Amino acid sequence: MRDLQDQYGRSFKTLRVSLINTCNLGCVYCTMADTDTKVSNHHQKTNISASELLRIIGYLHQELNLETIRLTGGEPLLYHDLIPVVAGIKAMGIDEIKLTTNGFLLERMAFKLHKAGMKSINVSLDAINEDVFFKMSKRSDVGRILKGIKTSIDCGLDVKLNAVIMKGMNEDQIFPLLDYAFENNIQIRFLEVMAMGHLYKQSEKYLFTQHDILNAIASRYNFERLDRKASATSNYWKTKEGHVFGVIANESEPFCGDCNRLRLDSQGNIFGCLSDNHPINIRVIDDTLELRQKLKLALAQKQTVRFVGSELSMLEIGG
Ligand code: 5AD
Repeated sequence: MRDLQDQYGRSFKTLRVSLINTCNLGCVYCTMADTDTKVSNHHQKTNISASELLRIIGYLHQELNLETIRLTGGEPLLYHDLIPVVAGIKAMGIDEIKLTTNGFLLERMAFKLHKAGMKSINVSLDAINEDVFFKMSKRSDVGRILKGIKTSIDCGLDVKLNAVIMKGMNEDQIFPLLDYAFENNIQIRFLEVMAMGHLYKQSEKYLFTQHDILNAIASRYNFERLDRKASATSNYWKTKEGHVFGVIANESEPFCGDCNRLRLDSQGNIFGCLSDNHPINIRVIDDTLELRQKLKLALAQKQTVRFVGSELSMLEIGG
């Protein structure tokens, strides 16, 4: 059967699975909620079991011939059955298994993850300085995350860093983060803040743009832009010394045009786009036609031009 595709030629090839909607950090962009913010009842529900999750992923894979699966959360390392899930995905014949984590529990998990079939991990790290890190995440101990990163590299995992840069919060961390990444030969991507959760309709004041980030880096480095790969979220540059860094410029350079991502949350709902808060439940489906219909609905959720914001934070919809 012909691949599910929209009028712009977009289909689903990458599945991002939110395993759990809780986190052991309290990052400002996810959780700086004011008292009026609705608490979604998502949080009261238990997460899907590993066997149910693998059944759904297998079903989606059958239909979509997925190339990549990224496990996210909340914080995916808090999901009890993470290793069986990774091994189960590997057993489906999907080789590109990736993870986005805050790195707090990484040191003790890295070896097991790699052994189960995990290929690469993105570690979210918004500061090197301990005080700024605390301001951003409400947790201490950057050293613990750095140890997790080192252990992961030693185990053979490919590691990238994600750093959300927020104006007035952590823009002074661009160079400490860059220095750390360059010294350790790790690819780093700086992220523009997205209008999600409690920042919906008020992320502007924190927006530190791709232009601002490049301007800052240009005060110390000469760099050239690299070609963008199809369906990539990040733009990349290479310094004269040969170091590569990226910017995920969701606001200033949206990448919806060739987006190939489908999201599955920890309750069995799919979303075709981060901008769309309408969950499409596929937890109880065991009929291919019905699944196809739901996937078409999800594909129709994709924005044509840009992310328009969401009342759900990444904690809820998945990172
Ligand atoms: N804006 C930008 N990045 C965000 N992340 C989570 N919420 C936001 C937001 N509102 C980041 C996390 C993680 C990645 C999946 O997205 O830090 O690195």
